[in-house]
Amino acid sequence: MKLINNSMLLVVLFALGSCNAQNKNSAATSLKNNFKGDFYIGTALNVDQIEEKDPKVDALIRKEFNAITAENIMKSMFVHPAKDKYDFAMTDKYIAYGEKNDMFIHGHTLIWHSQLAPWMTQIKDSTEMKAFMKDHISTIVSRYKGRIDSWDVVNEALNEDGTLRKSVFLNTLGASYLPEAFKLAAKADPKVDLYYNDYNICEPAKREGVIKLVKDIKANGGKIDGVGIQGHWRLESPTIEEIEKSILAYSALGLKVAFTELDITVLPNPWDLKGADVNQNFEGSAKMNPYPKELPDSVQKKLADRYAAVFNLFLKHKDKISRVTFWGVHDGQSWLNDWPIKGRTNYPLLIDRNLAPKKAYQSVIQLKEKK
Ligand code: XIL
Repeated sequence: MKLINNSMLLVVLFALGSCNAQNKNSAATSLKNNFKGDFYIGTALNVDQIEEKDPKVDALIRKEFNAITAENIMKSMFVHPAKDKYDFAMTDKYIAYGEKNDMFIHGHTLIWHSQLAPWMTQIKDSTEMKAFMKDHISTIVSRYKGRIDSWDVVNEALNEDGTLRKSVFLNTLGASYLPEAFKLAAKADPKVDLYYNDYNICEPAKREGVIKLVKDIKANGGKIDGVGIQGHWRLESPTIEEIEKSILAYSALGLKVAFTELDITVLPNPWDLKGADVNQNFEGSAKMNPYPKELPDSVQKKLADRYAAVFNLFLKHKDKISRVTFWGVHDGQSWLNDWPIKGRTNYPLLIDRNLAPKKAYQSVIQLKEKK
């Protein structure tokens, strides 16, 4: 008996062929190589990734990315938990990981109102705050002088209308805390690039706020090298036009532009639900977690098109863009599975839960192949 007939043979040959094509693609292709000479391609690393707990994930990180940001461990609550106590155990490992893999190493973040060590919220007046900032910024930046390539000096200082956010820093020092922070960082490491980093700063009012903030920092003697646009985006917004206006506006100030925390949510947002009480508990609600098993092809395609449009714009302005960093390596570990609602299944990145490249990955890679 013949084991296989001709049509079966064709099917097998076709499958082998497409398998080969895919293998060729995945073995030789990577995000970092694809955009070499354009901008760095980065990822945020969590503790397990810094400690190389999963060899498959580690291999993927080294293959795809040439820049890293610490997702949490450099934030003040972890690195400076008490007034006289710094904990550099994890941050040292993070720097060593980047150096070992010859990566661009970003520091996130020095001055931020969130994930603040509780003792810092007790700072009462300008004298105490000045002493805190001097100690905090000088100690951390000097420790990694010449080893960290850029720092988020201040994170999220603005309200949506472009005014300065109320925080322990603003309350004790007024607007002068901003130039002060940038001066201290530049003093501790004169060569490192210093960034202001924030979300929603492609929106017109907040964008004007960033422009004013940058001008104020410079007018008061601070050194600032770049603006970090976080890029926690949605399928429909911000528009490509507003992103482009922001790239142009920030680079017109003589600054580098980085996309520092890119991810694109595909899930409904509780704040868009008119009349919904945001304090309502959405956990376990099927309406808010529509794709618990897999992402339908139609949405997969929307995500791929959105990423293609965004990267197309990045390439158009590659001379102004220093780095594009994703907020996580793969969908399974994204913070968007737990924010703003805990326990959902989101699909915001280019690599899926099984560590396989998604349609969106291919759409971004293909942009360069077309050129
Ligand atoms: C997020 C982390 O991803 C989470 O693990 C953590 O629980 C909260 O912070 N803007 C920032 C990042 O600048 O530091 C935040 O990271 C996401 C929003």
